[in-house]
Amino acid sequence: MGTYAVTGSASGMGAQVAAKLRAAGHTVIGVDLRDAEVLADLSTPAGRDGAAAQVLALCDGRLDGALLGAGVGPLPGADSARRIFAINYLGVVELAQAWRPALAATGRAKVVVIASNSATTVPVVPGAAIRALLRGDVDRAARVMKWFGPAAPSLAYAASKIAVSRWVRRSAVTAEWAGRGIRLNAIAPGAILTPLLEKQLATPSEARAIHAFPVPVGDFGDPGQLADWMMFMLSDAADFVCGSIVFVDGGSDAYLRANAWPKAVPAWGVPAYLWRFAKHRLAQRAV
Ligand code: NAI
Repeated sequence: MGTYAVTGSASGMGAQVAAKLRAAGHTVIGVDLRDAEVLADLSTPAGRDGAAAQVLALCDGRLDGALLGAGVGPLPGADSARRIFAINYLGVVELAQAWRPALAATGRAKVVVIASNSATTVPVVPGAAIRALLRGDVDRAARVMKWFGPAAPSLAYAASKIAVSRWVRRSAVTAEWAGRGIRLNAIAPGAILTPLLEKQLATPSEARAIHAFPVPVGDFGDPGQLADWMMFMLSDAADFVCGSIVFVDGGSDAYLRANAWPKAVPAWGVPAYLWRFAKHRLAQRAV
């Protein structure tokens, strides 16, 4: 039986995954603001550092997997963008990086990040904020969002999920992750009936927007079913899955963006594409 770190283990999808892992006989080290083995506020640098270190101490330097599920929705408020970025982006990336040696130690570890279909279904998310996040510059990303007035929380939420998805795709394929036997992937849920969504539904304007959003299967997702997908992605069935963003969203992404992907590399992208081939060949020769 294995040892798994689960952030956001006190509620919603994280709680469901933690319960399913425990029921399967695994040890779970939960990280959350309350009701968890490790109590930490992932919105602060001290909270993230403390959570990373405490999990490493509790797992004895060996992790079979991790679910990075702690997150917040598009919160209203003056400093909301910064908080969203700190929890949804740094709270994933910093912890995953800190735990990477422990994940590598078991040789076949799986990491699942909870992203969102907001990454592809929210229009005109500012690229400057996404680029700043990928550089780890939350201050700059939060400054960018100040230009967007009342739309800032939704755009910040989408930016956090685009950045974290891109970080997953960029990192998963590298020698530090794939090369050390770790499979790093993300799941992109649509609207799932958890306390996070219930909070949004309690605000009439947000509820109207959520109900107006197209979901071809016509309902909210069930957190237990989402947890089953994550369990699969944490299992050995995922040995050949690397850098994937798995959409489990009732068809919203396909409905709104049917022609966006898959797509051939355009002519202007061929030099960069060939450069990736050449880099791979050089790396193979260096081994
Ligand atoms: P939830 O609100 O039920 O669970 C989120 C957990 O994260 C809570 O236990 C909360 O205490 C924890 N958390 C929040 N801020 C934290 C902080 N500063 N430090 C430590 N822990 C903190 O929500 P849900 O829906 O289960 O969300 C899980 C993930 O799924 C989030 O990343 C969310 O963005 C994502 N997601 C949710 C969707 C939905 O419709 N429910 C849709 C797409 C993505």
